[in-house]
Amino acid sequence: MKGVILAGGLGTRLFPLTKITNKHLLPVYDRPMIYYPIQTLVNAGIDDIMIVTGGRKSGDFLSLLGNGRDFGLKHLNYTYQEGEGGIAEALGLAEHWAQGESIAVVLGDNLIEKNINKAVADFKAQGKGAKIMLKEVHDPQRFGVATLEGDKVTRIIEKPKNPESNLAVIGIYMYDGRVWDIIHRLEPSDRGELEITDVNNWFIEDGTMTCEVLDGWWTDAGTFESLHAAAKLVAEGGANKVD
Ligand code: DAU
Repeated sequence: MKGVILAGGLGTRLFPLTKITNKHLLPVYDRPMIYYPIQTLVNAGIDDIMIVTGGRKSGDFLSLLGNGRDFGLKHLNYTYQEGEGGIAEALGLAEHWAQGESIAVVLGDNLIEKNINKAVADFKAQGKGAKIMLKEVHDPQRFGVATLEGDKVTRIIEKPKNPESNLAVIGIYMYDGRVWDIIHRLEPSDRGELEITDVNNWFIEDGTMTCEVLDGWWTDAGTFESLHAAAKLVAEGGANKVD
């Protein structure tokens, strides 16, 4: 399975920190933010990785990461997103490289305490469809929020005013090779973006979406509060633990 890390966008919620650099190059405690999602994929045995960059200082990703030697990799793939057309648009830029294979996608500002090894193994065994990962949060309005019946997700609403649960859909997704056609058919949302939540709802309607609740802490790092919280979590206990 191949892995894609989405590190485009303009990071406007972190202005002025992101006025002259890319959000994913900012420090989270002792490492640049992008190191964490790369480690998440590498720990899960995914070593064929595409990084979608964009916005300011995208060339600095190459200076920082090179061929991925810090992660024991021999090679990294890069592509560039013009503008800020949404998470699904950024993912669509990896289509030519993925060549119809299943993929694991990690948002470049998402950090986890432990690993996704079981979820990746379960997704491989599932054979087709998609998998999302969920985590209970105190501020679901900030995220895609899942409604469950038993252990099945019945729908996801992006940033709901009145959330039906406190289960956030975290920024780690797994898809079969149909994802590219789905992205082609998406229409921009009210905020002008191609939404990953629309992709996920397509798989829910198709009846091939599964979900797992993530073990250990999870955070994004795209706001001042969450960037600070992420650094604190890493400093206090470390991230990307293997067992
Ligand atoms: O963190 C999890 C949440 O991420 C999910 O619960 C939401 O369903 C999902 O929509 C997303 O919400 P955010 O509003 O937090 O996403 P944000 O715009 O901050 O983008 C997250 C990452 O995705 C960002 O660090 C880089 C990548 N991205 C985003 C956009 C809009 C791109 O590569 N290109 C883009 O155009």
